[in-house]
Amino acid sequence: MKEWFKKVGVAVADWFKKVGSVIAGWFKKIAAKFKKEKNGNYLTGAEVRQISKENNKVMHSLEKKKKRKAKEEEFVAEMKDSSNILEIENLHSYFFTDQGVVKAVNGVSFNVPQGSTVGIVGESGCGKSVTSMSIMQLLQGPQGQIYSGSIRFKSLDFKLDSKGKPIPIYETDENGEILYEDLKDSKGNVKLDKDGSPKKVPVHKRDIYGTKQYEMEEKVFDIAQMPTKEMYRLRGRQLAMIFQEPMTSLNPVFTIGDQLDEVTLLHVPEATKEEAKKRSLEMLNLVGIAMPERVYKSYPHELSGGMRQRVMIAMALEGNPRLIIADEPTTALDVTIQAQILDLLRSLKDRINGSILLITHDLGVIAEMADYVVVMYAGRIIEQGTASEIFHSPKHPYTIGLQKSKPTMDSDSDTLFSIPGNVPNPINMPDYCYFRERCSKCIHKCSGDYPEMIQVSPTHWVACHLYSQENKDEN
Ligand SMILES: Nc1ncnc2c1ncn2[C@@H]1O[C@H](COP(=O)(O)OP(=O)(O)O)[C@@H](O)[C@H]1O
Ligand code: SF4
Ligand SMILES: [Mg+2]
Repeated sequence: MKEWFKKVGVAVADWFKKVGSVIAGWFKKIAAKFKKEKNGNYLTGAEVRQISKENNKVMHSLEKKKKRKAKEEEFVAEMKDSSNILEIENLHSYFFTDQGVVKAVNGVSFNVPQGSTVGIVGESGCGKSVTSMSIMQLLQGPQGQIYSGSIRFKSLDFKLDSKGKPIPIYETDENGEILYEDLKDSKGNVKLDKDGSPKKVPVHKRDIYGTKQYEMEEKVFDIAQMPTKEMYRLRGRQLAMIFQEPMTSLNPVFTIGDQLDEVTLLHVPEATKEEAKKRSLEMLNLVGIAMPERVYKSYPHELSGGMRQRVMIAMALEGNPRLIIADEPTTALDVTIQAQILDLLRSLKDRINGSILLITHDLGVIAEMADYVVVMYAGRIIEQGTASEIFHSPKHPYTIGLQKSKPTMDSDSDTLFSIPGNVPNPINMPDYCYFRERCSKCIHKCSGDYPEMIQVSPTHWVACHLYSQENKDEN
């Protein structure tokens, strides 16, 4: 009997415990709801801890992927179109913050054809810089990560011999015979053979900047799959970046010469100090600096903004890059200097036979420079086409708004047009068109799914329901 009472007692106590915890759960939920209503979008400590726990898991695995040792075949890819130098496909780059995941680049796809200038335009915060930093694999980890997608880049890499060494190219005479020269030591003294005659070595072919030439071959790398260590093959050599504010990119305590020589020595390790200086002066000359000797000896603060940007361009060109990414290269400069820098970029692009990815919020800059334009909004591409298509027949209401908000000389209005409203919160993006709250052309379908990219010409694409087939049929 005693046992029976004991069992019943325990069962009743368990029941009360269970009911108690369910009721406590209800109260907790109600309390959390009240708290959320009171705090608006603020998160509770428990929610932040939960987000942070989930983020850590993803960040850890993505960091591990970047630090792994990988064989080349793991990150070698194939171009979909061999005329492109860069193909970005469905790129997602995220920031894992304690407030939630910021989808800064959320499914971006576009190409840079070889030899062309592609402009990315969009208002501040739309993901332009995050796109360019993803290409360089320079997103600030562990929070900033390429989450998924491909960044295929056609690189020019050293062709290797059977021992894994680069194959030099030698100077030849008119009959194709290799030319020889005296072998010299580091002090310039001719080295002699046992019989006293000068030692001969083949003359290594050099480019116009003095860099030794080797046999090269094209290899396509998927940067999104590349370990960070392998990126040194591309950064500075194949891919170069010019930033908005050169003062923050140059080291204030070293002269321009020191900094340029350092880059030269990085690219041409066998160069002597004199050779490095010669090359640095040539580079300063190349970017239109009239007194290279003086600039070589100057500190960054002694130069004007335009001059500093020219130095940055010289630095970017040191490795003979195939693709230059210029992120707002003229935003910090006044208008006349801006035009000079753009002219310089244009002429250098042709000279090095490279391509440019030009990022700017300034439609004027894009109009002057770009062959193709990509318009971004809230981490996505909403329109892309040739420069003429985007400027003369823009389709997306946002692109049309951007065009209208550009100041012109012949406008008689006192006030500039501005697109009303704000970009949605990047942590909680809606399922429907991100531009809906600001769009004056909204139709019934706009409350539905996010619009797909619709092709309106062989080279022109737009993500807007106004151009969907059924909507066209309705009209
Ligand atoms: N370190 C960071 N942490 C969290 N969010 C970031 C960080 N850097 C950028 N973002 C977010 O990514 C989005 C895109 O930024 P960015 O590419 O710099 O814009 P822009 O188009 O002006 O270059 C913005 O919403 C910004 O808030
Ligand atoms: S899909 Fe609809 S809301 Fe979005 S831009 Fe087009 S018309 Fe405007
Ligand atoms: Mg930016």
